[in-house]
Amino acid sequence: MSILPSAGNGRVTVPEILSRKKFIPGQQAFTERKITSLTAYDYPTARLVDEAGVDIVLVGDSLAMAVLGYENTLPVTLDEMLHHTRAVRRGVRRALVVADMPFGTFQNGAEEAVHNATRFVKEAGAEAVKIEGGERRMNLVGRLVEAEIPVMGHIGLTPQSLHALGGFRVQGKTAETAEALVRDAQALAAAGAFCIVIEAVPREIAARITESVPVPTIGIGAGPECDGQVLVLSDLLGLTEGHTPKFARRYADLRTTIREAVEHYVDDVQKGAFPTDGESYHLPASAPAATRDAAPVKKA
Ligand code: KIV
Repeated sequence: MSILPSAGNGRVTVPEILSRKKFIPGQQAFTERKITSLTAYDYPTARLVDEAGVDIVLVGDSLAMAVLGYENTLPVTLDEMLHHTRAVRRGVRRALVVADMPFGTFQNGAEEAVHNATRFVKEAGAEAVKIEGGERRMNLVGRLVEAEIPVMGHIGLTPQSLHALGGFRVQGKTAETAEALVRDAQALAAAGAFCIVIEAVPREIAARITESVPVPTIGIGAGPECDGQVLVLSDLLGLTEGHTPKFARRYADLRTTIREAVEHYVDDVQKGAFPTDGESYHLPASAPAATRDAAPVKKA
């Protein structure tokens, strides 16, 4: 049986993402159509992101900070991720839905990792999972692929390694660490990952990684040479409170829009401008006079 890149129903598939690789090492560039990806965490935003034409909707573990109010990604649980992945799944018609495996659900042995990843596919409708880490995840990626679960890799700044890295810093700035990142990407590709997120890595190194692996790279703070880009939706929409990294371009200012709308509502209620008579229901003309008289309407 051959695997066709397109499922023929307009939906984005794993083979289609693979076919969008810009450079295959040793071959000519054959596509310039970049892969676009955004995070989403609930039904309405998943719907909007999908309708706007994004290729991959990632239910990122950034859910922890973006929606659940945690300080970092470490506390978010498998159940919380499953719950939000289900909501996203219901909202997406076209894009590929990828679920992020949260901290502690894949680091403690392949058996448990495959079991947890299977839950994302079987119970939440994800079409692939993302796991953080490079070379040392090789065996695990192989096991997941063998279990028919497509894997998106994630290298560079991996937020689940917060304590090990000693903070959130750009990765791969020395010759040694840059080499290690190239090895990480090659190991993930060799193990069967269908694409690799590269986070917070110098543009030059991300470009080198992109040219040295046969699968698409998706950059976040990794420059324009990657085969695709991903951003956290809350950063793009201007919903994030406080500091955002320099790569997180803000395309809207929804914090201001939402706050102003709510302030306007509160003000209107206080001064009696909401609701108006036109926004109220009325008794039918046939209602007995006694009922009408019970609730006299003050005319403005
Ligand atoms: O959790 C997330 O949102 C991510 C992206 C930043 C790639 O992992």
